[in-house]
Amino acid sequence: MTKCVLITGVSSGIGGDALRLLHQKGYHIFGSVRKEADAQLLTSAYSERFTPLVFDVQDHDAVIKASKLVYEQCDRLDGLINNAGVAVPGPLQFMSEADFEQQLDINLKAVRRITNVFLPLLGTKPDFKGKPGRIINISSISGLFNSPFNGAYSISKHGLESMTDIYRRELRRYGIKVMAIEPGPIKTKIWQKNLNSMRPYAETDYFDVLQKADGMIENIEKNALPVENTSKVILKCLTKQNPKTRYIVHKNVFVFKLLAYYLPDKLVDWFVEKTLTKGNRHRPV
Ligand SMILES: NC(=O)c1ccc[n+]([C@@H]2O[C@H](COP(=O)([O-])OP(=O)(O)OC[C@H]3O[C@@H](n4cnc5c(N)ncnc54)[C@H](OP(=O)(O)O)[C@@H]3O)[C@@H](O)[C@H]2O)c1
Repeated sequence: MTKCVLITGVSSGIGGDALRLLHQKGYHIFGSVRKEADAQLLTSAYSERFTPLVFDVQDHDAVIKASKLVYEQCDRLDGLINNAGVAVPGPLQFMSEADFEQQLDINLKAVRRITNVFLPLLGTKPDFKGKPGRIINISSISGLFNSPFNGAYSISKHGLESMTDIYRRELRRYGIKVMAIEPGPIKTKIWQKNLNSMRPYAETDYFDVLQKADGMIENIEKNALPVENTSKVILKCLTKQNPKTRYIVHKNVFVFKLLAYYLPDKLVDWFVEKTLTKGNRHRPV
């Protein structure tokens, strides 16, 4: 029987490449996009075993409507990949409430709403038959390390890390495995989308640092890993008999773990301050 997975945000980047790899491996993919044009483009690229779902993750009525298609076409899901996300940068002191809320709603609250809609197909419905499905949350190293001026994003991904652990512990009784993937910089559109995003803060005390953001983005992009690295880990999460609960995808996992887990906070504060104020080649992680 064909295995089915649902991936949110397949129009580009990590979600788009996960669609490519999982389709190649024979899965039927339910992939969410926001624009009808993306749905059409992907439907012509994947003429079989692909069903587009058109919704914005913030529009729960649209999610419910689209979920009917999934419930009609399959009686179980092998995986739910919560991938759709945005990065809304800015200093916590000055970021608007609307921007802060949007960041949390898309990257965190919507994940719970969408997960709950599909939990019955992953294994919680009483007449569920077969192997329970898996939930894979695309978190970030920002879920493990707090970068200044990227605060709302870090908070959303830290929340997603908690949500991953809580669902895993709650859903144990159903055999549903829940895990997080924590990528470092990956070459996707998410970086370009953030160019010029610090302009609203030009009049603030932080602008000496914030004006370097575009230069940092360009440097990060140059050194970012290809999306295929994340897709391979997604496949591993879906297929490995006994997957880990979290996977970091980073050029230097050891150094990252040292910074995030082992160095004293005050030393890391000093290091972050130094890297932000000297030059523009670097962002702390
Ligand atoms: N790239 C990295 O370096 C990196 C590192 C760590 C974690 N991540 C995480 O990876 C995930 C995917 O990001 P990406 O790097 O692949 O970026 P991307 O290329 O910008 O893709 C983001 C995807 O999310 C969708 N999306 C955004 N807002 C949405 C909304 N309100 N409703 C529904 N879909 C929405 C986008 O759809 P549209 O095309 O319609 O906007 C797009 O399909 C995100 O959760 C991000 O936080 C990325």
